[in-house]
Amino acid sequence: MDLILRNATLPDGRKLQDIAVEGGRIVDVAPAIAAKAAREIDAAGRLVTPPFVDSHFHMDATLSYGIPRINASGTLFEGIALWGELKPLLTHEAVIGRALKYCDWAVARGILAIRSHVDVCDDRLLAVEALLEVKRKVASYLDLQLVAFPQDGLYKSANALRNLERALDLGVDVVGGIPHFEKTTEEGTRSVKVLAQIAADRGLRIDMHCDETDDPMSRHIETLARETRRLGLQGRVVGSHLTSMHSMDNTYADALIPLIRDCGVSAIANPLINIVIQGRYDTYPKRRGLTRVPELLAAGVPVAFGQDCVLDPWYSLGSADMLDVAHMGIHVAQMTSPPAMLQAFTAVTETPARIMGIEGYGLAKGCNADFVLLDATSPIEAIRLRAGRLAVVRRGVVVAESAPHESQLHLAGRPDSTQFR
Ligand code: FE2
Repeated sequence: MDLILRNATLPDGRKLQDIAVEGGRIVDVAPAIAAKAAREIDAAGRLVTPPFVDSHFHMDATLSYGIPRINASGTLFEGIALWGELKPLLTHEAVIGRALKYCDWAVARGILAIRSHVDVCDDRLLAVEALLEVKRKVASYLDLQLVAFPQDGLYKSANALRNLERALDLGVDVVGGIPHFEKTTEEGTRSVKVLAQIAADRGLRIDMHCDETDDPMSRHIETLARETRRLGLQGRVVGSHLTSMHSMDNTYADALIPLIRDCGVSAIANPLINIVIQGRYDTYPKRRGLTRVPELLAAGVPVAFGQDCVLDPWYSLGSADMLDVAHMGIHVAQMTSPPAMLQAFTAVTETPARIMGIEGYGLAKGCNADFVLLDATSPIEAIRLRAGRLAVVRRGVVVAESAPHESQLHLAGRPDSTQFR
């Protein structure tokens, strides 16, 4: 064997499991595997999980915080305007440099797959070409899936439709959209239909920023769901954000959620960003803005949690930590029961992997040998502690390691050190 991880706890609660790896794949999962390996790691009862997956990110903007200024109002719209000021200043090298640095952070935190939107509203397609190069550079250790995203509006922005198709021709993987940002509801509806047809014609997935507003009348998800069914795209379409659903009348939401499920559409919520950006036009009480995560899950809609932004025109914090994302999701959606907290863990691991169509994901025999050893004994404890990633393994090779966290104490009559579990 190339590697055996011993005495691990699995996310489903099975304890003292060994995971044997050969040729980049998991060849056995069982207690006390008798074989020997070139490298053995003793998990000592800690949790091993399939890698974290961030299914909603903006890698073209990441780590640009403060360039050329910060977002004073904190709104989505000032963020988009600020990104518009930054876009002409972007260089190929700077975008690649920031993206690669971010990918280093991601791997260190156990993220081994990212779906990043990339703005196509730039006739140069500078960010598109830069992120396609990044995708090639990181391919051995990180799956980077790109979404052609018309940030300034498919119709609002000159050449956006043509540039989106150019980006797809260059190899961008997924069709994006932003219907709530078009000039009229009618143009938003038309953008959804045109983009869905493009995806159907090209055999691609769809991931639209959809209804990212507190306006309860923003109902483009309804069109997206109906187009998904009409074009036979079930299982390949995502509505990202869906924050207007937070503010909708319950009667309408109760009809909408089964429609989303029946049309085979998934949802990606972005708790860190939704709680920061939504409700900015409210006085008090201020709406939370996160979409109806427990209700979507209860109806059977796959819901992932994405990170969306790190140090960019929309968000001044972030550190590539999907446990932080799950932690915020639990708070904002009040998912505090043990089963709901486990759902939050799944929302940053298995569900986004399935949404992105990642093959060989998981800890079963035959899966890719991609996993993360956490300094925790259960998924809930991992979220509570934002536990350290002691080892990150990609195709059987340890690609990142961190030391366990232990604080030294200097207290009379107390032990010399403590851990938070
Ligand atoms: Fe986004």
